[in-house]
Formats: sequence, structure tokens, C-alpha cells
Amino acid sequence: MERQRSFSLKSTRFLAFSLTISSSLIFLTLFSIWVIKSTPSIHQETHFHLNQLALNLSPKPITLETLTGFSKNSSSKNVKDLFLIDALNKPENSTLFSPPPDEAYKADDLDDNSDSTTGQESAPAPSLEEVEVHSNERIEEKKIEAASTQKIELPNDEQITKKKIEAPSVEKIEVTSNEQIKKKKSGAASAKKIEVTRDKRIEEKRLRNCDITKGRWVYDESYPLYTNASCPLIDEGFDCMSNGRLDKDYMKWKWQPQDCDIPRFNATKMLDLIRGKRLIFVGDSLNRNQWESMLCMLMGAIRDPKKVYETHGRRITKEKGDYSFKFVDYKCTVEYYASHFLVHESKARVGKKRVQTLRIDSIDRGSSRWRGADILIFNTAHWWTHYKTKAGINYYQEGNLVHPQLDVSAAFRRALMTWASWVDKRINLKKTRVFFRNSAPSHFRGGQWNSGGHCREATQPLNATSSFIYPDKNGMVEEIIKQMKTPVTLLNITRLSDYRIDGHPSMYGTKPGSRYSANIQDCSHWCLPGVPDTWNELLYFHLLPKEEDNLL
Ligand SMILES: *[C@@H]1O[C@H](CO)[C@@H](O)[C@H](O)[C@H]1NC(C)=O
Ligand SMILES: *[C@@H]1O[C@H](CO)[C@@H](O)[C@H](O)[C@H]1NC(C)=O
Ligand SMILES: *[C@@H]1O[C@H](CO)[C@@H](O)[C@H](O)[C@H]1NC(C)=O
Ligand SMILES: *[C@@H]1O[C@H](CO)[C@@H](O)[C@H](O)[C@H]1NC(C)=O
Ligand SMILES: *[C@@H]1O[C@H](CO)[C@@H](O)[C@H](O)[C@H]1NC(C)=O
Ligand SMILES: *[C@@H]1O[C@H](CO)[C@@H](O)[C@H](O)[C@H]1NC(C)=O
Repeated sequence: MERQRSFSLKSTRFLAFSLTISSSLIFLTLFSIWVIKSTPSIHQETHFHLNQLALNLSPKPITLETLTGFSKNSSSKNVKDLFLIDALNKPENSTLFSPPPDEAYKADDLDDNSDSTTGQESAPAPSLEEVEVHSNERIEEKKIEAASTQKIELPNDEQITKKKIEAPSVEKIEVTSNEQIKKKKSGAASAKKIEVTRDKRIEEKRLRNCDITKGRWVYDESYPLYTNASCPLIDEGFDCMSNGRLDKDYMKWKWQPQDCDIPRFNATKMLDLIRGKRLIFVGDSLNRNQWESMLCMLMGAIRDPKKVYETHGRRITKEKGDYSFKFVDYKCTVEYYASHFLVHESKARVGKKRVQTLRIDSIDRGSSRWRGADILIFNTAHWWTHYKTKAGINYYQEGNLVHPQLDVSAAFRRALMTWASWVDKRINLKKTRVFFRNSAPSHFRGGQWNSGGHCREATQPLNATSSFIYPDKNGMVEEIIKQMKTPVTLLNITRLSDYRIDGHPSMYGTKPGSRYSANIQDCSHWCLPGVPDTWNELLYFHLLPKEEDNLL
């Protein structure tokens, strides 16, 4: 009895004790969750604050008139006809990039200038340039050699036409050989049906079977898929034809992989594929280049242009970073978000000064707007140069630490890892398909973008790129993508674009007579129609349902 009582006493005590412990544990957990949850909001507030500051410090935004391809008044009529102006969805400020305070940066800010070549107040876009200039320097010399051989041959018109005539016949031969492949494929397909893990297998097989990076450009009269007249959305910076470029061959080349065909872009089908979805491009001005190309290619399927409108009620201008175009009948949007580095451009105090920094450990703060995408196409590369990153001195930031000095490629890798873990954490695998487009080559001859480099004389693709060197940054991208949980499809366009020295705006990235066009050529971006259309055909190829395999 006694024992029993003491036992029950003991057990009660024990019970009470453990209850206290566990309830304090629960309290502690709840408390820490609260703390964690509330911290980000504090963070956000700080960021917001910083932004406001940045805005106040930043130079006055350049007016629409100077920046837009079409001036406010002149062509406003047809533009208005085209786009139903919607109410602003969000404050314009929220989309503004805080421009770096540094004058030196301003001069080549890609998105604000390079994109926006029109600028009377700022130098044109060249922007990306030196990235490649660095890596291309070695290549450059060889290319000049190659180019000069080409030059000797080019002036002869007869030879050119001959080549053109020859080209189709070569194609024909390939078609027959492809038929054989087709037969083999359809045979294999019926067997495949039995297999269970087909989707992944087929995808792998297709990629294994066909290295689309190996091939050549063939002249094809049936291109381009749109013109400056059929697509009113081409930015002045890419609208070479309207800016006075006379040669037209650059629009007529089709990329022909060695071992397979890329299906011709079918705008109706593409719109069907993205019906009710959001197709989003995130990256620097070269992704903007590709996004505009996509818009133009899709416009081809729209009879009534009024059924395409900018959901923020703006025209395409160089000034603003973000756009969303809606294709009403398909309830889909095709969007672009400017993000030069994919990670967060920030500010921090170093010594007594507030300096521009790049938070390589933190995703771009615009990311919440991309997250809901169904198809996401990223790029970054061209801004990762010593020139644009203050040579890495007091520029890269992780946590509170601003690295006194960090190598650009180390920083690039860390930023990519930040991006990769964001994708792995935040992207819904079931909903969203992720692509990464690797770097596009530039072709400055005889100098750099800001020292007289040029590409205007090129009107034909390079014959061979034997000297091609796959940039290190692309290697890093591939490495990191491989380690990701999310399958990311690489749009591997570097090499095929490397042939296309003829595809850049050169001096036709601005209206004739513009102050800059004569001195500074744009050999980084691409004319539209042009090379980015091919990038989009590749994207389309990847998006096509797998059954299409049999039809190829
Ligand atoms: C442009 O339009 C504004 C009003 O929208 C008008 O005041 C101005 O005179 C116009 N400028 C030209 C050059 O037509
Ligand atoms: C943008 O920010 C400035 C300064 O912070 C403010 O005065 C202005 O009203 C804002 N514009 C919009 C459209 O929110
Ligand atoms: C281009 O290729 C053709 C065929 O391979 C060759 O005959 C021609 O010499 C090449 N031209 C240049 C400039 O390399
Ligand atoms: C398209 O380019 C041509 C020059 O090749 C030009 O005459 C025409 O005005 C341009 N069209 C548009 C709509 O800008
Ligand atoms: C494009 O796709 C649509 C819809 O799938 C189809 O009806 C049409 O025939 C295709 N056009 C071409 C030229 O293949
Ligand atoms: C991308 O293309 C380059 C050049 O053709 C090639 O070296 C690289 O292996 C390709 N990457 C992938 C993942 O296919």
C-alpha cells in the first residue's frame, strides 16, 4: 500500500515533470517558428527601404520618348490600335532596377541602354560585349583569318547564288536519309509503347540520338517567319531592317542538325501548347531578344492583333524591365523579367560608403513573379565580366560579408548554385518546365565593343567554327544543372550561334543618323527576325509532346 502510494506519487511527479518539459518544448518551437517567420518581413522591409533609397539616388529615369523605338506621338496610333491599354497591375516602381550609381556602369548598362540603343542621353547598348570579348579574344584572331578568306570569295555574286542553289540539293539528300531514320524510328516506337518508363526514356533517347548542336546553317527561302511589318513589337535595337539594313540573307538561314530535323515552328501549335499558361523569360537583354522573337513568332498566328495586349499597359521600351503580353484567345501570357545576374543586386556599407553589391547568396527579388510560370527560360552570363562587376572588388556579398575581392568565375558559380537551390526549392516540378539558355557569342572584330569593334561587313554566316571554344561559364552551368533535383533542359545555342557573325545589328541597332550608330556597333545582340528565332524553334522542339517523335 505504502509502496503503491509512493509509486503513484512518483509517477504523478514524473508525469507532471514530463508535461512541463514537453509544453515548454512546444512553446519554444512555436516561438522559434514565429521568429523565423517574422524575420523575412523585417528583411523585406529593409530591402524596400534600400530600394527607395536607390530610387531617390538614381538618375531620373529617361523619358519614354527618348527610349522607345517609336516615339510617343508618331506611331502611337497603330500601337494603340494594337494594344488595349489595361490599368497598371502594379506600381511601375516595383519593376525598376536600381541603376548602379557609378557613371562607368551607366555607359554600358545593357538593359537600359544597350537594349535601348535609342538613348540620346546614354551610350548604346553594347552591354554584353566584353564578356565575350574576353573569351573570344583568342578566337577572334582565328576568325579574322577565316573571315578574310571568306571575303575574297564573297564579292562574287555568281558564286553566292551557286552556293544557294547547291544548298537545297544537299538538303534533299538529307531528307531521303532522314526518311530511313524515320522508318527506323517508327519501328522502334511500337516496341517502346510496351515499355513503362517511356517518357523519360524517349526524351533521353531523342537527345542522345540527335545532338542538335552539331549541324550547319542552310539557306532557306521560306524564312523568315515574320517581318518588321508583321511584327510591331520589335524593339528598335533589334529592328535592323527598319533601321536601314539592306542585305536580307541573314533572315533566311535555317539551322539543320546533322542527325535530325527540327520541326518548323508552328505558331498555332505553340499557342495550343501554352494555352492557359505562363511562358516566362528571365535574364539579361539577350533573353529579351529571344522573348521578343517569341512574341513575333506567335503574332503570326493571331489574325486580330487587338487580341494581344500588354497586361501592364505599356509598350516595349528599353526603360522598363518587365513585360507581360497576353494572347487573349489562348489565355496565355508571354513574359519577360529583366535580371542580369539572377541573384539580388543590392547595396551595402563598406567603410563609410554605401556601395552597389551583388548578393550571390540570394535570388533576385523579382523571383516571386516568375515562380508561378509553367515554362521558365533563364539565362545569365554576359554581365559576369570584370568590367560590369567592379572587377570583383567590394562587389560580391554573402550575408553581411562584402568580399574585398572575389574572382568572377567563383562568384558566378556561387550565384548559379543560389539559383539552382531556389529552383529546387520553389519550383513545382509537376507544373513548371525549366530551361536554361547558355551564352550567345558576340563577334567583335578589330576591337572591343567600345573601341571600334565591328561586324557590319559580315553578310553571310561563317563557314566553320573550328576555333570554337565552349565558354567556361557554360561548362559551369552544365555541371550545376546536372546536380539539380529539378530537370533543367539546356538550350545549347552557343555553338550554332557562333557561326552567325552576320546576325548582329552592328550599326543597324539604332535609327539611321543616330549619334552612336557610326562609332559603336552592336555585335552582341541579334537582329529580328534572325538567330533568336532558331533558339525558339529549339524551345518549341523541346516542348512538343513526345509522340511527335514519330512524326519527325
Ligand atoms: C505629342 O503629344 C502631346 C500630347 O499627347 C502634344 O502636346 C505634343 O505636341 C505632341 N508632340 C508632337 C511632336 O506631335
Ligand atoms: C515611384 O517612386 C517615387 C519615389 O519613391 C514616387 O514618388 C512615385 O509616386 C512612385 N511611382 C509609382 C508609380 O508608384
Ligand atoms: C566553305 O565551305 C565550302 C565547302 O565545304 C568550301 O568549299 C569553302 O572554301 C569554304 N569557305 C570558306 C570561306 O572557308
Ligand atoms: C520595314 O523595313 C522597311 C525597310 O526595309 C521599311 O521601309 C519599312 O518602313 C519597315 N516597316 C515598318 C513597319 O517599320
Ligand atoms: C500548325 O498546327 C495546327 C494546329 O496543330 C495545324 O492545324 C496546322 O496544319 C499546322 N500548320 C502547319 C503548316 O503545319
Ligand atoms: C553544348 O554544345 C557544346 C558545343 O557544341 C558541347 O560541347 C556541349 O557538350 C553541349 N552540352 C550539352 C549538355 O549537350
